[in-house]
Amino acid sequence: MRGLTGKKALITGAGNGIGRAIALRLAEEGADIAIADLDEAGMAATQAAVRSHGRACEVERADVGDPAAVKRAAKALEDRLGPTDILVNNAGIVRLGAVLETKLEDFQAVMRANVEGVLHFSQAIVPGMVARKRGSVVNLSSWLGKAGRPFFGMYGASKAAVIMLTQSLSLEIAASGVRVNCVCPGLIDGTPMRVSAEAQSKALGMPAAKDRVSTIPLKRTGSPEDVAKVVAFLASDESAYMTGQSLNITGGMWQH
Ligand SMILES: NC(=O)c1ccc[n+]([C@@H]2O[C@H](COP(=O)([O-])OP(=O)(O)OC[C@H]3O[C@@H](n4cnc5c(N)ncnc54)[C@H](O)[C@@H]3O)[C@@H](O)[C@H]2O)c1
Repeated sequence: MRGLTGKKALITGAGNGIGRAIALRLAEEGADIAIADLDEAGMAATQAAVRSHGRACEVERADVGDPAAVKRAAKALEDRLGPTDILVNNAGIVRLGAVLETKLEDFQAVMRANVEGVLHFSQAIVPGMVARKRGSVVNLSSWLGKAGRPFFGMYGASKAAVIMLTQSLSLEIAASGVRVNCVCPGLIDGTPMRVSAEAQSKALGMPAAKDRVSTIPLKRTGSPEDVAKVVAFLASDESAYMTGQSLNITGGMWQH
């Protein structure tokens, strides 16, 4: 499949983990890549990997929660790479804790990165897509945006908000032909966020991911590449009749 030849894809948080896998997959499909992330070393590593696939890759350090920084980075990246055809809002953080003990600063940090970041990058990039009458937006939600779990209150609330932003925006701009979908991954291993979630879970007395594998119908955790394949599908014309959807990538762990 080389369905993205000539396309320009802007991916937030592609300095690590799932975002890096998405950047590499879209590059393999023929897209040039733009990245906005806080992690400069991570971005440099992804950039080198994308370029080794023969695709262009531009990077800008930006905090997705800072609207002025997002505006500046979006303009700088589009000036260098050209107008964006694919926007992947992937950057995010996880903080766990009991709802009744949640500190306001933690709640606001999670909402700022996970929800406001989606808003800012959508506002910076999507109007151009609508004017050109083409484009695909893919947002990273989580199965925890659909299913309540103890200690995942603030993270789950942020990911539920991503689903609702996806649905509303998709309807607001559907007549332009620009599509907006999101993915809801389950337990995805091999990323810094997984390491952080595991440490926080342990401190709260929750089971480790490896001890939960038996509860996953497909009997394994997911990989960043499992997510990247679905994002590539949603980014491409293969999904031309889909908008406003939230696809689970959970090994069957969640089905709604
Ligand atoms: N790993 C999982 O199990 C899992 C499951 C479901 C959903 N997700 C979602 O997938 C996305 C990627 O997850 P991951 O596991 O690759 O995470 P990760 O921590 O490995 O990578 C996240 C990237 O986002 C960047 N980032 C964080 N805050 C930022 C900010 N304010 N501005 C700019 N960049 C910022 C980080 O520097 C990092 O490069 C996240 O939205 C996450 O919530 C992950």
